[in-house]
Amino acid sequence: MQVQDGTVGALPGADQPGGAREYAWNVLCEWTEGDNLRKHALAVEIAMRAYAKRFGEDEERWAVTGLLHDMDYEKHPDMSEHPKVGVAALRELGYPEDVLNAILGHASLVPRDTLLAKALYAVDELTGFITAVALVRPSKKLAEVTLKSVKKKWKDKAFARGCDRDEMARGAEELGVPLDEHIAFVLAAMQEQADLLGL
Ligand SMILES: [Fe+2]
Repeated sequence: MQVQDGTVGALPGADQPGGAREYAWNVLCEWTEGDNLRKHALAVEIAMRAYAKRFGEDEERWAVTGLLHDMDYEKHPDMSEHPKVGVAALRELGYPEDVLNAILGHASLVPRDTLLAKALYAVDELTGFITAVALVRPSKKLAEVTLKSVKKKWKDKAFARGCDRDEMARGAEELGVPLDEHIAFVLAAMQEQADLLGL
């Protein structure tokens, strides 16, 4: 919880042997059985960790926020419930408000007024789009994806229609990172962890 001196509460599991990341992974797996949605969570975690490092922010906190942002989506995909149901459950578990606000912010339910919230919004859809670009390469590997191939598919309106180009561009703008730089940065972060993503 945000307290008056500006410090923020610890993440659940931080004092346990596996730490906050393992705790969050277990929460995710309890709520989410599907491999694709777990992989999406991992991709967003990877991108969030990379941006936290770049901005000198708390890597584990950003990683956990990425990991958990869609934890209720499998059970509650309707936008009248997602991600509110998940946020309520995470609050019960003791997750701090900055993390919860970022998760609500990725669905535009509250203003994205922290760097954490802006980063989550900026990487969420883009990691999905990059994954889609990898999957249409002959090898289906991230190693074959370049900024150029992502941009080519970006312009192809029939490709990955579910990924809203305007929303992805707005995310980069809010984060204050030029779009090409943002795409290249997230792509590089995902490529570094390609094995984990099965790509
Ligand atoms: Fe997501």
